Amino acid sequence: MKTKQRIAPSSFKLYGVFGFPLKHTFSPAMHQAAFDKLGIPCFYLALELDPKNFRQVMTQKKKLLLEGFNLTVPHKQIVKPYLDSLTFEARAIGAVNTVIRKGKLWIGENTDAYGFLKSLEEVHWKSKGKTVLIFGAGGASRAVIYALCRSGARRIVLLNRTVSKARALAKYFTKFFPKTRFEVRPFEKQVIGKTLREVDIVVNTTSVGLKRADSPLVLNGDFPRAKGNRLAVDLIYNPSETPFLRSAKRAGWKTVNGLGMLLHQGARSFELWTGKKAPVDIMRKALHGCMSRISL
Ligand code: ATR
Repeated sequence: MKTKQRIAPSSFKLYGVFGFPLKHTFSPAMHQAAFDKLGIPCFYLALELDPKNFRQVMTQKKKLLLEGFNLTVPHKQIVKPYLDSLTFEARAIGAVNTVIRKGKLWIGENTDAYGFLKSLEEVHWKSKGKTVLIFGAGGASRAVIYALCRSGARRIVLLNRTVSKARALAKYFTKFFPKTRFEVRPFEKQVIGKTLREVDIVVNTTSVGLKRADSPLVLNGDFPRAKGNRLAVDLIYNPSETPFLRSAKRAGWKTVNGLGMLLHQGARSFELWTGKKAPVDIMRKALHGCMSRISL
């Protein structure tokens, strides 16, 4: 944080991320690196906030002197009543990960779908006309569904442990994207294997794979052979290669983890706050630094 010595404290602006728990967040390192690189006098803080105190903090956010903030689990879907307006994307996804302050107004935006699509662009993936399998029907799944529909996916199969949640999501998004065909299937081993043979791209939005002890989402041999023309995405980035991605890679699928999505959603938030082009390479380097520190 080189700017600390150079600039009077009164000219500093504050940003941060609210989440719970928040011990392992990479966002402060990523955003601080960007602010420092552009010489913008800002601090970006990790703001661990217990959900039971969320209401109190949000109703008094002016006192926090924040210019804007990010939200992560479990606050993304509960912030709406405390904001003055939502962008179309935030409303459609039903979750806010970025709040922008415009004068007296607080505006909710969602940059997760943008970040997800950018991370697919990095491997030259195009979703138009494709068939997709998505594991999970939580908050992260909503942004992924929105992103894939926006980019022209033809058919989306949803698999979730709690089938009713997948059904509700399919119904919800059919209204926004009538051209995409939704299908909900039961979360069963045979169904997973069969569905993987039908799809071009599979995305894991669940937390399965975060812990070593997790039983695998997909069994070895479930992925059909591919020659780099099919894509497996895991939103998990720590570990950088989950058993799910490892199985996909072994079968010849292209793989992408969640670090690119984290990077690009952050870069977009940064641009919305500052009006400046985000130094993406610097932010990426900061994220790789975080990854190498945790793997020491
Ligand atoms: P996020 O915002 O990260 O999506 P979330 O809204 O809590 O977090 O959603 C977590 C997702 O992971 C859900 O789809 C959840 O399935 P349920 O809807 O059945 O709860 C899924 N998930 C979590 N643990 C799981 C497990 N052990 N097996 C299968 N799915 C799991």
